Amino acid sequence: MHFPSARRLLALALGSIALAVAVGGCSKSPDAPPAGGAAQKAGAVKIGFYVKQPEEPWFQLEWKFADQAARDLGFTLIKTGGNDGEKLLAAIDNYAASGAQGFIVCTPDTRLGPAIVAKAKAANLKLIAVDDQFLGPDGQPMKNVHYLGISARKIGEEVGRTLAAEMKKRGFDPAVTAVCAVTYDELATAKERTDGAIATLTAAGIPANRIFKAPVRTTDIPGALDATNILLTQQPGVKHWLVCGSNDNLVLGAVRALEGRGFAPESCVAVGINGTDCIVELEKAKPTSFFGSMLLQPKAHGYQTAQMMYKWIKDGVEPPLDTRTVGILITRENFRQVLKEQGVRE
Ligand code: GLA
Repeated sequence: MHFPSARRLLALALGSIALAVAVGGCSKSPDAPPAGGAAQKAGAVKIGFYVKQPEEPWFQLEWKFADQAARDLGFTLIKTGGNDGEKLLAAIDNYAASGAQGFIVCTPDTRLGPAIVAKAKAANLKLIAVDDQFLGPDGQPMKNVHYLGISARKIGEEVGRTLAAEMKKRGFDPAVTAVCAVTYDELATAKERTDGAIATLTAAGIPANRIFKAPVRTTDIPGALDATNILLTQQPGVKHWLVCGSNDNLVLGAVRALEGRGFAPESCVAVGINGTDCIVELEKAKPTSFFGSMLLQPKAHGYQTAQMMYKWIKDGVEPPLDTRTVGILITRENFRQVLKEQGVRE
């Protein structure tokens, strides 16, 4: 994840609007050859699907389910990914040039929202944001852009409840117990998740001065490992850590940091979010501190968004502006069954 400066963002946005106008102008020209040549049938539906971190199992599953929708409904899916705003803007040009009528996107940077909208409009592409909601120039969510995402706060609260219940069950001494929240507050959906967990843990009686944030620089396991190591160095007196984070990878990074410092698996409890990126962890023969995860609904995020886009293009059925999905707790006890029931695994 990189952090473009405000100036750079502005340059990207302006450049993209200029490009978008050019692309839009082109596509309106009656002389323009149909992109895709003979392969492009009149009325054939093509949909782009851009994800910010294609290496995450979460996003691979979104694509897998979108592919399933493409097969079931008979449209072409163009998958593009990368944690880079410029790559996304180039991908939109490519969708337009290849004759797509719309795209679904989890943007690498939600502040690119206005630039993405401008580009989509100019190229006459329908647009659905998935996972990460666009932010307007005022820093507020762009509620006029179609969006499907998780009920982040509620899911975070459930993480907090699970951690508080485990603390009680294991009889951790509150005097030497603390919370490690691996945070990425730059992203609203990530912040809502950890804020929700922290609020529930606070309500469960953990004093505010026992709740510590480990902010990540990069939203991956190494980023979370580094952030947690800094916190563990600063708080050597803590014997039991309750770990939450904005997704599985951030929580897994914290678990690896705890292991590195010699914490016994049962002395700490960690609960993730996604449920798709921790399957190998839950399958390990020996339990780790990773207690479980809130399994989200990759099928809704991949299949349903693709289906919404298809119906919008084909039948003019506009999807709801805001759709929210829920999570279910999976642990070592139930994960195989729940993943099967939810269609995530065979
Ligand atoms: C964000 C996170 C992903 C996943 C999705 C779910 O994009 O980065 O790991 O949790 O939200 O909507």
